[in-house]
Amino acid sequence: MQTMPIIRKDDFPILQKVIYGKYPLVYLDNAATTQKPRQVVEAMTEEYYNVNANVHRGVHFLSQQATELHEASRETVRRFLNARSTSEIVFTRGTTESINLVASCFGQAFMKEGDEVILSEMEHHSNIVSWQLLQARKGIRLRIVPITDDGQLKMEEYEKFFNERTRIVSITHVSNVLGTVNPVKDIIRIAHEHSVPVLIDGAQSTPHMTVDVQGLDCDFFAFSGHKIYGPTGIGVLYGKEEWLERIPPYMGGGEMIKSVSFEKTTFNELPYKFEAGTPDYIASTGLAKALDYVTSIGFDAIEAHEKDLTSYALQRLMEVEGMKIYGPHDQKTAAVISFQVGNIHHLDMGTLLDRLGIAVRTGHHCAEPLMRRLGIEGTCRASFALYNTREDIDALVEGIQRIKKMF
Ligand code: ALA
Repeated sequence: MQTMPIIRKDDFPILQKVIYGKYPLVYLDNAATTQKPRQVVEAMTEEYYNVNANVHRGVHFLSQQATELHEASRETVRRFLNARSTSEIVFTRGTTESINLVASCFGQAFMKEGDEVILSEMEHHSNIVSWQLLQARKGIRLRIVPITDDGQLKMEEYEKFFNERTRIVSITHVSNVLGTVNPVKDIIRIAHEHSVPVLIDGAQSTPHMTVDVQGLDCDFFAFSGHKIYGPTGIGVLYGKEEWLERIPPYMGGGEMIKSVSFEKTTFNELPYKFEAGTPDYIASTGLAKALDYVTSIGFDAIEAHEKDLTSYALQRLMEVEGMKIYGPHDQKTAAVISFQVGNIHHLDMGTLLDRLGIAVRTGHHCAEPLMRRLGIEGTCRASFALYNTREDIDALVEGIQRIKKMF
């Protein structure tokens, strides 16, 4: 059975590109970054051509128009996450900055030597190193929830990590390597039973599923624009108002102040307290357009399409002799499959697939501790988006079969 993408493929001009004489491009590196629809790029160009002016600073027409657009984008993000208020939506440069903000500011306010953060073995470097920086400053402890051999969190172990020194839990919603969808609702409920707040790294979940921060009851939630068909350089930190009020600002500068003197500075109200400097108001427009784009398709359709692609890919990849797939492949995974074929090095596999016009990611995927846990150096990773089709997966499997013959 053939599948159609659930969008118009020509919304994405880059997918028409010829690479090494191959057409069409089979782009399966969506967990690294997604391609951008015309609607996103055109909205940003239009704003540069017709509106551009600094926001929150000018009485003049363009500045007011740019400010309105920027704040309307914040409202789009609020709606997308189902946050209570736009005060809870902080624009950052991406998931990494959002996590660093929480580690730094929450750490400064609420953690001292010997206090603990709970992470997991499947975290991206962003959700490890930001806490290690705090560890170097304050002597906190990192507690690491182990995973099973098929890449799922050991929930019974997780429960045992809580003690009187536990201050925060910071866990990924979906693994960027394994596609594992973590039971974040249970993770949050258990943490709250111990009065511990939770930060969810949503970089890999927001493109694939509905996120409802009030439904989840998470305390912080981070995601990136470029992984959900939006521009690079913009992301979001959602934080419950009561937490954002209680933690100090991240960076100092314009926008985040109410008044400044050499003796005393007071800070702006939420969310501006965390938005020092001129914000990327063009990117916020692009992000809002991208969220509108996925919302207009709807996550029911996106999930159904990507589930079909993922289970078809799992089934087709398993036809390849010597195929090893990492992660839980007998249950719901979120559009990400890491694999290794016999003893063909993942870098060779990725490079040769590229020559066939198939883009995958290879390496440790910014998750070296997870690689160590799996006892490997790296993998090949295929990750899907709403413009992929079963034909893309057929091309991948045929490509792998061809490469196998060369070894
Ligand atoms: N975190 C991104 C990935 O997994 C870059 O590829």
